[in-house]
Amino acid sequence: MKTLIKNGKIITNSDSFEADILIENEQIVVIGKNLTPDIDTKIVDASGKYIFPGMVDEHTHIESPFGGTVTAPWQTESVAAAIGGTTTVVDFALQTKGESLMEGINRWKSRAEEQSAIDYGFHIAVTDLRKDTIDEIPKIVAEGVPTLKVFMAYKSDLMVDDQTLYQSLEAAKNVGALVLVHAENGAVIDLLQRKCLENGETAPYYHAVSRPIEVETEATARAIAIAEIVGAPLFIVHVSGEEPAQKIREAKAKGLPIYAETCPHYLFLTVDELKKPYFEGAKYVCSPPLREAKHQEALWNALQDGTLQAIGSDHCAFNFSGQKDLGREDFTKIPNGGNGIEHRFTLLYTQAVTTGKMSLNKLVDLLSTTPAKVNGLFPKKGTIAIGSDADLVLFDPNGKKTISYQTSHQGLDYDMYEGFELEGAISDVFLRGTQIVKGEKYVGKLGEGKFQKRTPYGLCYETINHVNKESQEV
Ligand code: URP
Ligand code: ZN
Ligand code: ZN
Ligand code: ZN
Repeated sequence: MKTLIKNGKIITNSDSFEADILIENEQIVVIGKNLTPDIDTKIVDASGKYIFPGMVDEHTHIESPFGGTVTAPWQTESVAAAIGGTTTVVDFALQTKGESLMEGINRWKSRAEEQSAIDYGFHIAVTDLRKDTIDEIPKIVAEGVPTLKVFMAYKSDLMVDDQTLYQSLEAAKNVGALVLVHAENGAVIDLLQRKCLENGETAPYYHAVSRPIEVETEATARAIAIAEIVGAPLFIVHVSGEEPAQKIREAKAKGLPIYAETCPHYLFLTVDELKKPYFEGAKYVCSPPLREAKHQEALWNALQDGTLQAIGSDHCAFNFSGQKDLGREDFTKIPNGGNGIEHRFTLLYTQAVTTGKMSLNKLVDLLSTTPAKVNGLFPKKGTIAIGSDADLVLFDPNGKKTISYQTSHQGLDYDMYEGFELEGAISDVFLRGTQIVKGEKYVGKLGEGKFQKRTPYGLCYETINHVNKESQEV
């Protein structure tokens, strides 16, 4: 069965043009003007619509144990992603202490295999780096997992020391894998949290007080320095404000292969949300914390000048009732994280494209193409090209909607963006040629998402390969 999408305007990270797209065997096979269908070809009319490549979300935590509870499952969150135009996620799998990396990956795989509406891959968070774990890294890369995650925060739980960061970078570099880092100084945060609690400061707002931007700036600089010593590339996740962004800008200016993302909540929400009464502030507790409004402008500038190259959702969804609740008496017990998997694309379109902050092409670059390149998914994912997977999003720029948790598809009893007005509406989503969303309704089958074997030596190795080549030439 072939599908022909006619009369839409194709938007990639570099071009915008009107053309038809012919899909066969899950892939894009022809792009051209006035294509004529065979008798057995299904025709989709995209007149008046933009056609984007499926969005790639490189930062999600689905069905993940965290802070003594578990985030919302694949069954709901992958459907919410699909409705929001995301056709691939790279989710964070966790290695439990004592376990191999592969055991962590397989645990995540078995859940996604049965339930995921969209394609998926995994980063593996290293929590216990032993000699055998280091030896395992080439094996997991060969299995299609070329990205590791290291937490410099969450002292009682996921945090690792600088030796582990160093050794992870070193082992990763040997096989073209990439280390992603959560950069906050966990030891200092732990002290500041205890000080707050000793003073009776237990409300959600003290989450932000105990994680000032300096702890993020320091850890960002330290991670960059360690990566420089190793000579490895590094990807810094969820950059929340001006000073850490400046450390990244300076590293790039030195020619270091440092890459980074921010997330929608840092662009659209501020620390004032944490002051909401009746414990409502808990809904906005995430790490790094939301910052003062001035940081938003710094983040927009950093996106503009290429300091930040991607926007991942950091979707880590806990219900208010029964989960965020765990911290009513003590903010350190509020599970960290918020939602973003569903609204990431349309929020950014509304707040950045319609306001003239960025072009449609830049939007595609930040939300799809660069995440695909960094994570070894390109050109299968992240673009509209012959031979690429037919992951396509049809978007009607005339649509309108107001966000409410009641109409959102995430399995959540609140929405951080409640009341936000959205411009434009996603009308159809195709996953490898199969229509999975039609008029805001999920029409696919759970479990049809496939594990993506990703390749090493992605975008972050571009300059390193170049340097290596030049030194060989000498
Ligand atoms: O608060 C957050 N971001 N929760 C998810 C885990 C992490 O640190 O990314
Ligand atoms: Zn994190
Ligand atoms: Zn995260
Ligand atoms: Zn619906």
